[in-house]
Amino acid sequence: MRKVVPRVTIAIDGPAGSGKSTVARCVAEKLGLLYLDSGAMYRAVTLLAIENSVEENISELIELVKQCNIEFTENGKRIFLDSVDVSEEIRTPDVNKLVADIAKTPEIRHEIVKHQQRIGAEGNIIAEGRDLTTIVFPNADYKFYLDASIQERAKRRFADLQEQNVKTTIEIVESEINARDEKDTSREHSPLQVAKDAIRVDTTGKTVEDVIDIIVTHIKEK
Ligand code: CDP
Repeated sequence: MRKVVPRVTIAIDGPAGSGKSTVARCVAEKLGLLYLDSGAMYRAVTLLAIENSVEENISELIELVKQCNIEFTENGKRIFLDSVDVSEEIRTPDVNKLVADIAKTPEIRHEIVKHQQRIGAEGNIIAEGRDLTTIVFPNADYKFYLDASIQERAKRRFADLQEQNVKTTIEIVESEINARDEKDTSREHSPLQVAKDAIRVDTTGKTVEDVIDIIVTHIKEK
């Protein structure tokens, strides 16, 4: 008889700097899963808005989003917008500042969520963002909500930006993260929230390996 391979969907949500991307990427590698960085897609759409100067013209942006093509390669490491590799451009301070305002638009979310659900339709995926446990994959087999203190999240994000040679201070990074958290949790459509069946993991003071262990242990136990 043919062996039935179980197909698994893991969804992770949490605020900026909670460690979702790093952890999800490592778990994907460890368990041989597809990795989906949903935030990268909202960042790509934000770049599309900036490049076409339609940041203020949302109806035009919605049309552009419907026509654009967003693809990942190297298991989610690189992202292409209309066949152009924009993996670095989507992480600039300009995109950081604007992304939460663009991501609150229901029509844009609708297009992006459809695309994410298509990518995840086959299962065997670990996806992270703000609404993966609630809206994109509400029936995920495993749901996690990662969080950490604002100080620690700012410290992690500051280190990322230093690596990109972006001149900033930890105070500026902290206030930008706070502003983005506020927008992401208070928006009307698909706000960041803890799904009632999600396992909460506080990553403050924990290493990436600690958090991976917690997640993999939960998965193996179930
Ligand atoms: O990596 P970081 O946590 O800074 O953010 P991200 O995951 O790249 O997401 C950037 C922004 O996209 C978030 O602040 C949200 O405004 C938006 N986003 C969203 O609305 N829904 C998602 N599923 C993922 C990201």
